[in-house]
Amino acid sequence: MSGHLLEIRNLRTAFAIAGGVVRAVRGIDIFADKGEFLGVVGESGCGKSVTMLSVMRLLSENASVKADLLSFDGMDLLRQSPKKMRMLLGDKIGMIFQDPMTNLDPLYTIGNQIMEPLKLHRKMTSREARKRAVEMLDLVGISSPEQRLKQYPHEFSGGMRQRVMIAIAMSCNPKLLIADEPTTALDVTIQAQILELMKDMQDKFATATLLITHDLGVIASTCSRVIVMYGGLIMESGSTEDIFYRPEHPYTIGLLSSISDVGDTGRKKLTPIPGSPPDLMNPPAGCPFTARCDSAMRICAKARPQMTETGPGSGHGAACWLSEAGAATGKAGRG
Ligand SMILES: Nc1ncnc2c1ncn2[C@@H]1O[C@H](COP(=O)(O)OP(=O)(O)OP(=O)(O)O)[C@@H](O)[C@H]1O
Ligand SMILES: [Mg+2]
Repeated sequence: MSGHLLEIRNLRTAFAIAGGVVRAVRGIDIFADKGEFLGVVGESGCGKSVTMLSVMRLLSENASVKADLLSFDGMDLLRQSPKKMRMLLGDKIGMIFQDPMTNLDPLYTIGNQIMEPLKLHRKMTSREARKRAVEMLDLVGISSPEQRLKQYPHEFSGGMRQRVMIAIAMSCNPKLLIADEPTTALDVTIQAQILELMKDMQDKFATATLLITHDLGVIASTCSRVIVMYGGLIMESGSTEDIFYRPEHPYTIGLLSSISDVGDTGRKKLTPIPGSPPDLMNPPAGCPFTARCDSAMRICAKARPQMTETGPGSGHGAACWLSEAGAATGKAGRG
C-alpha cells in the first residue's frame, strides 16, 4: 500500500460510446498527503473531473477504470464494493461540485441534508446531528442557522448553497476533500470568500484538499502544489512556486502567459492557447500538446515523454522531450 493519504498510479479511464472509445485519462500518477492543498489545472476536457470521479468510482456504466494502484487511507479503492465506496463518500471523502444543485436534493430541507450523513456515518441521534448541523452552518458563515435548517435549497442563493455544500462535505471531518470547480459559477467576491472558507476548513481539520479548476489565479491563491493536465495526461507537477516561477513544460508556459498577472485577486481567467486539444477517441501517440507547441521536435509526435524531475528529489517534473533532453545532458531545465 501507499504511504500517502491518496495515491493514484497509472490511472486509465475510458468510455465506450457509439462510434468508439474515449480515452479520457491515459495513465496518470497523483498523490496527496494529509493536510495539503493540491490543485489540478488544465483546459476543458483534459480529464480533471474524470480523474476524480474515477477515484470515487462515480462514473457511468460505460466507463472502464484501470490503475496499478488506487489507494486511499491504506485502502485499495479498486477492491472496495460499491456499498463500501458509498459509505466512504461523505464520510472520509467529502465532495464539492461546481453546481451545488447537482448534489442538493430540492425535496429535502437543508437541515435534513446535513444531518443525514451524520446519522449514517457518525451514528448520531437526530438531536446530536441537528446540533452539529447548526455548528457547521455557523462555521461556513450562514446566519440564523436554526431557521435556515428548515429551509429548502431553492431558498438559498448560489453562494449560500455552495457554503451548504461545504458544510455537508466537512461535517464528518473527511480526510480528503475533492472540490471540482467549486467557485466557477460564483461572482468574484463570493468566490474569494468560498476559497477562504475552504482554506480555513483545511487549517482547522487538516483535511487534504484536491481542488480542480481551470483558473490558475485560484490555484495561485490557494494551493501549495499543482498538477497540470492536458489530453488525459499530466504535463507537469510541482510546488506552486515551481509551476509559476520555473515552469518547464511548454503547455504550462502557454497557460501562464495566457493570463496577465496571476495571484492578485485570484480571478484571472485563461484565454485559450491557439489550437484545440487532441481528439481523445484518437489520441496522438506522442505528447498530446505537440500540435500546439512552438518548441515541438520530431520525436514529440512519435513517442510519449516520461515525467522527468528537474533535479533529484525536487518534486518538480515535466513530461516533455525538452526536459528529458535537458536531464540527459545535465543541463538545467528551461524556465
Ligand atoms: N460519460 C462520458 N462518456 C463519454 N465521454 C466522457 C464522459 N465523461 C467525460 N467524457 C470525456 O472525457 C474527457 C475528459 O472530461 P472531463 O470531464 O474530465 O474534463 P475536465 O478536464 O473536467 O473539463 P472541464 O474543465 O470542462 O470540466 C472529455 O473528452 C469528455 O468529453
Ligand atoms: Mg470538469
